[in-house]
Amino acid sequence: MNHQSTPEITELILKAAEKARRETSSTPEPELVKPLTWPVQCTVGPGLEGAISCETKIGYVNGSKGWLIYRGYDIFDLCAYSTFEEVSYLLLHGNLPTGEQLDRFNKKLISYRSLPKTLRKMISFPLEEMSTMAALRIGTMMMRQAQTFLDKEAARPDPVDATDTDADSIPMETKPLGEKRAIYEFKNNRKKRPKQVTADIISAQELESAYHLISGMGTLVGAISRLRVGKMPTEPDPELSHAGNLLYMMTGKRPTPVEERIMDVSLILHADHGMNASTFASMVVASTLSDVYFSVGAGIAALNGPLHGGANEQVLYQLESIGNPENVKQWYANARENKTKIMGFGHRVYKAYDPRARVLGPLAEYLGQHNRNAKRLCKVAKTLEKEVVSSLGQSKGIFPNVDFFSGLVYSAMGIPAPLYTPMFAASRVSGWTARIMEYLKNNRIFRPRAIYTGDFDRPYVPVEKRKK
Ligand code: SDX
Repeated sequence: MNHQSTPEITELILKAAEKARRETSSTPEPELVKPLTWPVQCTVGPGLEGAISCETKIGYVNGSKGWLIYRGYDIFDLCAYSTFEEVSYLLLHGNLPTGEQLDRFNKKLISYRSLPKTLRKMISFPLEEMSTMAALRIGTMMMRQAQTFLDKEAARPDPVDATDTDADSIPMETKPLGEKRAIYEFKNNRKKRPKQVTADIISAQELESAYHLISGMGTLVGAISRLRVGKMPTEPDPELSHAGNLLYMMTGKRPTPVEERIMDVSLILHADHGMNASTFASMVVASTLSDVYFSVGAGIAALNGPLHGGANEQVLYQLESIGNPENVKQWYANARENKTKIMGFGHRVYKAYDPRARVLGPLAEYLGQHNRNAKRLCKVAKTLEKEVVSSLGQSKGIFPNVDFFSGLVYSAMGIPAPLYTPMFAASRVSGWTARIMEYLKNNRIFRPRAIYTGDFDRPYVPVEKRKK
C-alpha cells in the first residue's frame, strides 16, 4: 500500500497541512529545542509538569503552535506520503529507510507477525470478560515468554547445579522437606550461566524485541478483537501492510484501499508524542535495565488510565448522548455549569489545535459521506468543536485533541470501541521502544524526589497502649 493508491486521502491531508500553516506556524519553541548542559534549571509543577527528563532526537511536540515533528519530519508530510512501517523505522533508527532497508524491515515484521505460541495461550484466557487492555498486556508478556534469551533454557540457571548448603536444602524440583522453602546455591561453574553479554548484544536483543512487539502487538489486537466475541484469530496475510493486517485480523474482512490507508495514517499519528505518561512509564521501567517487554507492559498500563487513553471511546458516547447538533448548545452549557471535562478536548502540552486532530477531522468527515450515522455524529462533533473553541479555546487554550475525531474514524470503519485504546498502544509501541533504546544509550535510572511534609520524632507506642 502507498499513498498513490488513495490520492483523495493524500489531498485531504495536504489541505489540512495548508490550513495549519495558515493558522499557525512550525517555528520551534527556542527554550525546548536548545541542547542541554546538565544539571538544568526548570520550573516543575505537580506531576513533574514542566520537568525536563532527558534530551531526545526522536520527536518534538510544539505545544504553543500545535505542531508535531518525528525525527525532523513534519507529521503532515509523513501522513501524506509515508507509511507506519517507514515511520516506525524512522523513529527507531533516525532516518527514513532506503528501499533495501525497508524491504528488510518489512520481512522482519512479517516474520514476527504470526504468534502461534502466544495466541494458543491467549485462547485459554476468558477474554470475553476481560478488559481489552488487560488482555493486551498479558499478550505482550506471553510474547516475552516466547522470545527472550533471558528465559531461554541456556540462560536459566540449571537447578541440577544446586548444591545443598545444608542437609535440609534441596533442589527446587522436589518438595522441600523440613525447610519452609528450598534454600539453594549454585556451584561456581559460571560456564553454565549466560556469558557476560556485551552492551551491543543487549541492544541488538532490545532491537529484536522492539521489532517483535511492533509487529506482534497488531496481531494481538486482532486476536483480542476476535476472541472477545468468540471467534478464532485470523492468520495475518503477508500481502497486506501492517495497517491492512491490523484491520483484517480485527474484522476478518480484507480492508478496502481507503480503509487501509486511513488506518495507516492513524497509526502514524499515534506513533510518538513526546514525554507522555505511557512513554515516560515505559522509560522509567527500562531505566532499571528491565527488558523491553516489561517496559512496554508499563506503557500499556499507563495508557489504560482514562486521563491518557480511552478518551476517544468516551467522545463517541458523549456525541451519542448529545444526539444531534441542535442539542449541543444546551448540553455544553450544562457541562460548563457542572465543570464536566469535555472528552476529546484539552491537553497538557497543546494549548493550540492538536495537529493530529487537524488530520483526523477531515478523515472522519470523508468517511461520514458514506455512512449515515458517522455523518450525524460528525455534525454534532463540528458543532461542539465550534462551541468549545470559541469559549474555552480562547480563555484556556482548550482545543480538540487526537481523541476527539479518532473514535469517529474507527466507528465509521465498524471497529468496536473497546479496541480503540489497544490500537493506540499498537501504534505507540513504536515511540515507546524508540525512546527506550535512545535513553538506554545514556541510561540513568529515573529517581525523582518527593518533599516530605510529614511528622518527625513520634514516640513508638506498643499496640496494647494505642488509643483510637
Ligand atoms: C492524550 O500527553 C500526551 O501527549 C497525551 C496524548 C498522547 O498522544 O500520548 O496526547 C494522548 O492523552 C490526549 C488527551 C485525551 N484525554 C481527554 O481528552 C480527556 C479530557 N481532557 C482532560 O482530562 C485534560 O485536558 C487533560 C488530562 C488531557 C490535560 O489536562 P491538564 O493539562 O492536566 O489540564 P488541567 O486538568 O490542569 O486543567 C486546566 C484547566 C482546568 O480548569 P480550572 O481548574 O483552571 O478552572 O482546564 C480545564 C480544567 O478544568 N480543562 C478542561 C478540560 N481539560 C482541561 N475543561 C473542560 N474540558 C476539558 N477537556
